[in-house]
Amino acid sequence: MKPINVGLIGIGTVGGGTWNVLKRNAEEITRRAGRPICIVAVADKNVALAEQVTGGAARITDDAFALVNDPEIDIIVELIGGYGVAREVVMQAIANGKHVVTANKALLAVHGTEIFAAAQAKGVTVAFEAAVAGGIPIIKALREGLTANRIEWAAGIINGTTNFILSEMRDKGLPFADVLAEAQRLGYAEADPTFDIEGVDAAHKATLMSAIAFGIPVQFDKAYVEGITKLEAADIKYAEQLGYRIKLLGIAKRQENGVELRVHPTLIPAKRLLANVEGAMNAVVVKGDAVGTTLYYGKGAGAEPTASAVIADLVDVTRLATADPEHRVPHLAFQPHALSSLPVLPMSEVITGNYLRLRVEDKAGVLADVTRILADHSISIDAMLQREPEEGEGETDIIILTHTCLESAAIAAIGKIEALSAVKGAVKRIRLEELQ
Ligand code: NDP
Ligand code: HSE
Repeated sequence: MKPINVGLIGIGTVGGGTWNVLKRNAEEITRRAGRPICIVAVADKNVALAEQVTGGAARITDDAFALVNDPEIDIIVELIGGYGVAREVVMQAIANGKHVVTANKALLAVHGTEIFAAAQAKGVTVAFEAAVAGGIPIIKALREGLTANRIEWAAGIINGTTNFILSEMRDKGLPFADVLAEAQRLGYAEADPTFDIEGVDAAHKATLMSAIAFGIPVQFDKAYVEGITKLEAADIKYAEQLGYRIKLLGIAKRQENGVELRVHPTLIPAKRLLANVEGAMNAVVVKGDAVGTTLYYGKGAGAEPTASAVIADLVDVTRLATADPEHRVPHLAFQPHALSSLPVLPMSEVITGNYLRLRVEDKAGVLADVTRILADHSISIDAMLQREPEEGEGETDIIILTHTCLESAAIAAIGKIEALSAVKGAVKRIRLEELQ
């Protein structure tokens, strides 16, 4: 059967992996897709790199638009990243009637509404399995495998770089900057690694998960984003003593009146499988009303794991290329005319447990004052730990775990606790999820 022609734009980490896996497994992929999938042209700013990776087996250019405007090309694979040229490439490809496969979560989280609407109008597919959790087929699971369910929540370790940093810091005591440099060397980190460490990359992915899980528009601007740069070793240690691990989680959770969409360091019970996901591995737990909790685990970054997801999309698009657009799987799982207006909730209405670390004078009555303030805000204490002060130190750390409460109540109580004269400095707070 006639091959489907692919134009690959960007042959760096993921593009290179895609080229190599497609070449290595060409025979099996053809048997699955029903026709050969051929990368006929590659565009990359680095022409020498493209020539080296392809060995001259495809047409090479430094002009992405030469591929986008080539009538012989059926599918554009966008693997350059960013919101600038990548957006123009994707929009032009759609306008030219080409299907698009992309790993670019930043682009889709910010411009997804525009892109999916354009694709819908033109009857083409924009596939993005690689955009969330690298090689794990979480988009397919949420959009198709769990389609019978009312999704209640999805929570995951969806940034390999930060999980790698947290794991290496905890296990080997390595400094933050050294581990980040290693993650960059291994090709896990984004072009701008602040996207990883400040939680932005995870928020891009959580935004896409929330849209697919709840049938709401893509709304990155409403996500709460907090990274790992303010985490302190003391909190990792105290959390362990209380039976918890700290992970950077992306959370999309349904409440009665809206959807929680947030990324932040989170205490989770050490006995949960998610707490034991280490290194650059990713894992997502999804709770559906019928299926209960399901767990998806695997490599969330890197050349070939991500290529695995890119090629899965290529096979899907190849199989569906000739199907009536109205009968394809919708981009965001729900039919475009049936999206929900369920709002993304402001952070003040989010409900979580809390880890609080207070530096206090070691004297009578301090704890009573603190617990009274928590009670006044209807915040119930779950566990408490007090560090034995050093000889003559005069101050100590108190660590309190609370049951769930409204974010607004937690913030109000913390403000009052910080105003106590016996409490020194800011209260360190990390949100906590039991993930039952
Ligand atoms: P890389 O930087 O390794 O590769 C991108 C390539 O595209 C580079 O060779 C770059 O050239 C080239 N390029 C950039 N701009 C242009 C342009 N305007 N025209 C032609 N070529 C261009 O990135 P990755 O492979 O790591 O990431 C690609 C995408 O995949 C991103 O959206 C990323 O977020 C996503 N992703 C990455 C994962 C990973 O593990 N790395 C995992 C999941 C998703 P030059 O270097 O000269 O700028
Ligand atoms: N920078 C991302 C990560 C790449 O570390 O998870 C995969 O999306």
